[in-house]
Amino acid sequence: MNRRQAILKFFQFVAASPLLKADRKYSELGDELVKQANVFDFAKLAKAKLDPLAWDYLDEGSDDEVSLRANRTGFDDIIIRPHFLINDVSTIDTSTTLFGKQLTQPIYFSITGGKNCFFPNGEQETALAAGTSNSMMITGGGINNILSAGKGPKVWWQFTTAAEFRTKNQMVDYAEKLEDQGCTGISVTVDIYQVSHRERSIHNGLVRSWCQQAKGIPRNAQGELVYKPDDILWTAGDVPKPRPFPTPKWDTLQRLREASKLPVMVKGVMTSEDTELAVKNGMSGVIVSNHGARQLDQVGATIEALPECVRAAGGKIPVLVDGGFRRGTDVFKALALGASAVGIGRPYLWGLGAFGQRGVVRVMEILRAELAADMGMAGTGKISQIDRSFVRIRS
Ligand SMILES: Cc1cc2nc3c(=O)[nH]c(=O)nc-3n(C[C@H](O)[C@H](O)[C@H](O)COP(=O)(O)O)c2cc1C
Repeated sequence: MNRRQAILKFFQFVAASPLLKADRKYSELGDELVKQANVFDFAKLAKAKLDPLAWDYLDEGSDDEVSLRANRTGFDDIIIRPHFLINDVSTIDTSTTLFGKQLTQPIYFSITGGKNCFFPNGEQETALAAGTSNSMMITGGGINNILSAGKGPKVWWQFTTAAEFRTKNQMVDYAEKLEDQGCTGISVTVDIYQVSHRERSIHNGLVRSWCQQAKGIPRNAQGELVYKPDDILWTAGDVPKPRPFPTPKWDTLQRLREASKLPVMVKGVMTSEDTELAVKNGMSGVIVSNHGARQLDQVGATIEALPECVRAAGGKIPVLVDGGFRRGTDVFKALALGASAVGIGRPYLWGLGAFGQRGVVRVMEILRAELAADMGMAGTGKISQIDRSFVRIRS
């Protein structure tokens, strides 16, 4: 082979490479959806499209939003350490298995209430998108028709303080009903027994139930907000009133675990102590989360809390994490620190707000594609090859 033939062969090889195949022809770029370069581009489109009150509700954190910023800046202190020439990276496989279920990527849709403020039938649109991308989704319900039509994702249901926990029988009945509906796990959110100050929404005069109703933010023809006399606004300066029922404790969750065949995950853990208690009380896993920095402020970044929780879990139960994940490198760092999967909230809501179901699918595609490229560049072809040696924490 002469030099010219060798160069030609090299370009043929490059042109056939999977990475270049991901690029698109000019003729395929008519669709605005595929022009977006990263998940932040969806945020810009969603912000331009949504009612400003809906945008603030989606975007805000609590109090001074210190944890909200920390959830992003926390990633800057974790440095990726690539290792070359060990693993084959000619093909990248992002798939993983969680509680016996195969997922196309170790990224899932975390629970977000109030989707109707971002897109009509937002929960259903998200469920269909999660089904398309073979992702796991945590839901608060309202998608039974999609699940029974077989178009839905693998779902976990959110438990809170509500009716599910009042008596053991109620707990058992509820868990059984969920199983019948195709639910494969229960996610108990433990950081919302009192509600935070989200001051953008307080200043905006948001009525939270607006985002639960079909039409979202009510405005008249002049664009003014329309209140009903008994609308409950989010205000400051009131000590929380006593709740009618006591909050669940570890023994409540232990009973739930015993009552149901489904795995029970504790969402909202931020410390090694609580992870140890989750193991001790027979929980199936923990989700390291600060509720997207929407509950207690000043708790630091979730990526900062992850290593101590992974250490405390000691490989006995999976540790998941969410909060501020926007890039393939963010996901890679969490996997290297020992997370089994990573949840996203706002990024898919940006996709939903901008394009509905297609936007949600595309946001997951972008994150998966970034993760795949990052894995290849870091020297890993499979999720199982990512370990602690691939990161160092800046001191
Ligand atoms: C609009 C919105 C509503 C949310 N509602 C809930 C909820 O009802 N229950 C819950 O456990 N977490 C809720 N979360 C938190 C998410 O499940 C997740 O922990 C968080 O969004 C992850 O951070 P990220 O948005 O930076 O990706 C909500 C988040 C947002 C943005």
